[in-house]
Amino acid sequence: MDRQLDPGGGVDFSQLRRMPFDIGEPGDHESLVEPIYGSWEANVDHALRRSPIDICRSRREKQIVLGNFGLVRVLRPSDGSPLREGDFCMVMPFGRSDPYGYAELVFAYDMPGTIGLLAERTRINSDLLLPIPRDTRFSLGQWAAYARYFTAWDNWRCALACWRAQMPEADPADHLVFGWGGGVVFAELLLAKRAGFRVAMSTGSEIRAQLLRKHGIDPIMRPTGDPATSEDNGAGARTESLSHVDDFAARIAELTSGRGAAIVIDNIGEKLHALSLKLLGRQGVLTTCGWKLDMRISHLRGQECINRRLHVHTHAWRSLDIERIRDFSEEAEWIAPPESQVTYDFDEVPQLARDYVGGNLAPYFPLYRVNEP
Ligand SMILES: NC(=O)c1ccc[n+]([C@@H]2O[C@H](COP(=O)([O-])OP(=O)(O)OC[C@H]3O[C@@H](n4cnc5c(N)ncnc54)[C@H](OP(=O)(O)O)[C@@H]3O)[C@@H](O)[C@H]2O)c1
Repeated sequence: MDRQLDPGGGVDFSQLRRMPFDIGEPGDHESLVEPIYGSWEANVDHALRRSPIDICRSRREKQIVLGNFGLVRVLRPSDGSPLREGDFCMVMPFGRSDPYGYAELVFAYDMPGTIGLLAERTRINSDLLLPIPRDTRFSLGQWAAYARYFTAWDNWRCALACWRAQMPEADPADHLVFGWGGGVVFAELLLAKRAGFRVAMSTGSEIRAQLLRKHGIDPIMRPTGDPATSEDNGAGARTESLSHVDDFAARIAELTSGRGAAIVIDNIGEKLHALSLKLLGRQGVLTTCGWKLDMRISHLRGQECINRRLHVHTHAWRSLDIERIRDFSEEAEWIAPPESQVTYDFDEVPQLARDYVGGNLAPYFPLYRVNEP
C-alpha cells in the first residue's frame, strides 16, 4: 500500500491503495505464508503517520509492507522447520532480540528487510511462526488478536511481581487494579481479576461499558476534556472538565476506601499521568507498555519515593514465554471474545484506518482479512 501525508501533517487515508510489491524468494530459514487475518493496532497507525518514528527512514527503505501482528497459513515451510503446510501460525515480534529473549527491533515494524501481513503472500523467518493449538476451541479471528494478550501477560507478570515486592502479605481481594482504556488493558485486567484483585477500567462508550461489565470489570466513564489542563488555576476558577476529573478520582477513592489503587495501567501517556498518580495508592505500581498519545512524562520524584511507588515499563514479551502464553490462552479461555472483534475486508483497510483513528470502533480488537481462512 502506498501512503502520502496530507499538507496538514495527518494521514490522508484515501491514498492507501493496493499495489504490486516484489517479496522475492524466501531465504534459507524463511517460510512462504499467506496472511489470513491481520490485527490493526496503534503501531500500524503510528507507522502511517511516521510518528513517533518514521520507520521507512529508520530502516533506510523506500517502501515497506506494514502489518506485524496477525495469523498466517503456511504455504511452504523452510527446510528443517517443524512447521507443516497448512499450519495456522501467530507471528511473533522478534526481529532482533537481546540475549535474554526480549525484542529490540520488531518484525515488520522497525526491523529492516521484514515484510508484513498487509500483502497476499509474504515470507517470514520460521522461528517467528508460533502455531495455534491444532485442536483449539477458538476461532482463527480470536487467535489473530493475540498480540495485545501476549503483551498484557508480560506487563502483568512484571507489575504483579513489583507490587508483591512491597506487599507480600496483602490479600489482592482488598485491592483495586485500574486501567485506562484499550485492548491491552482489557486483557491485563482479566489477569488481575484471576489473581484475585478487584478491577476497574475507563471507557468513553456505553457499548464498551457493557462488554466490561459482562467480563466482570467495573466500567468508569472517562473524564472529558484534557485532564492535563484541568487543574484548578489557583484562583478558584475550575473548568468544566475538572469536575469530571474530580468525579473520576472520587469514584476510585470510593472503590478503594480512600487508599487509592494498588496498580494503575496507563498506556496513554502524559495527558493522564498526573491523574494516574492521583489515583494510585501508597506502595502502588504505575505500569505501562504503551505511549498512545505521548512518549514523555514527568513527575515529582520525591513524592513517588515517599509514597514508595514503583513505575514499570515493558515492551512486547519474551521469546522464551511464547508457548507458555499460548497454552495458557487455550486452557484458561483467556482470548479475545468474539463480541470484542470486528473484521474488515482487505480492500476496506483505508476505512478501517479511518475508523480506528477517528475512535469509531466499539470493539477493542479490529482485524483485516487478507485471504479467506
Ligand atoms: N509495547 C507493546 O508491546 C505494545 C503492544 C500493544 C500495544 N501497545 C501500545 O499500548 C497502547 C494502547 O494500545 P491498545 O491496543 O491497548 O489500545 P487502543 O486500541 O489503541 O485503544 C486505546 C484506548 O484508549 C482510550 N483512549 C483514547 N484516548 C484516550 C484519552 N485521551 N484518555 C483516556 N483514554 C483514552 C480509548 O478507549 P475509550 O474511548 O473506550 O476510553 C481506546 O480504546 C498503544 O500506544 C499501543 O501502541 C504496546
